[in-house]
Amino acid sequence: MAEAARMCEGMGFDTLDLNYGCPVRKVIAREAGAAMLTDLDRLQRVTTAVVNAVSLPVTAKIRIGWDRESTNAPEVVKALERSGVQWVTVHARARSEKFTGQAHWEVIAAVKQSTTLPVIGNGDVKTPEDALRMIQETGCDGIMVGRGSFVNPWLFERAHRLLNGDDPGPDATPRTRISTAIAHLHDLAAKKGDYAAVLMRKHVAWYVRGLYDNSSLCREVNHCSTPAEVETLLNRYLERLESAPVAGDSEPLAPAAPEWGGEDADAHGSCAAP
Ligand SMILES: Cc1cc2nc3c(=O)[nH]c(=O)nc-3n(C[C@H](O)[C@H](O)[C@H](O)COP(=O)(O)O)c2cc1C
Repeated sequence: MAEAARMCEGMGFDTLDLNYGCPVRKVIAREAGAAMLTDLDRLQRVTTAVVNAVSLPVTAKIRIGWDRESTNAPEVVKALERSGVQWVTVHARARSEKFTGQAHWEVIAAVKQSTTLPVIGNGDVKTPEDALRMIQETGCDGIMVGRGSFVNPWLFERAHRLLNGDDPGPDATPRTRISTAIAHLHDLAAKKGDYAAVLMRKHVAWYVRGLYDNSSLCREVNHCSTPAEVETLLNRYLERLESAPVAGDSEPLAPAAPEWGGEDADAHGSCAAP
């Protein structure tokens, strides 16, 4: 780990975040990721070695424990504090919970009470109001957002406004959602060529989640093989939306957009599009 840390430093990164929260089986099988939460001596030795190997700020991300019965986040954070990390992020679920159920924000509060390190709270922040509530309920110093940003990348600026005491402003309109999806598509196509059409499937499903009659769009996008085809469908869908009786209203017709696949899904969140 120390050698890997030195390599990262040599590549010009600004900080090094140690992931002691990864629940994926192939990572756990190597006693890494969230498995580190079960052996605090080892966790402290490894973390100290990394901190001593580089001059970069080293931080760590943890889960609240291996399972709900062995929640040990405050002790883990004490060990990290002794190791010299600069801050910790707490994903408020146990490893056994993977990405399911409700995050246990009360454990973030307990961690915050037990350490002088800055604490970043994580888990289930999907709206600006969630962000405010997490800070109020846990006293955390910052927030990390994961899946909430798939469906709603506008969350960050709206949450920022609310946390600064301002009106968060309206949610993104269907037109903004579709034009952002198209810009995303262009960006991906510049990097990945035609394969962008496949990579965009899950993103399109997220961008149109909750919009009127989105299921036919998702079905059609799943059969596209070029970015141009996806773009045409998105533009047609927007026209359809804007000429619908109440354009862009939420409808129960929405298919379930793909969720993070949990256990053995890869780190890119690949999952079957609806
Ligand atoms: C697609 C995907 C990829 C992720 N990759 C990482 C990762 O590489 N490192 C990490 O620490 N957490 C990773 N996570 C976990 C998130 O950072 C976060 O802890 C988790 O999704 C809970 O937050 P949320 O409820 O806001 O989604 C990933 C999550 C998802 C959905």
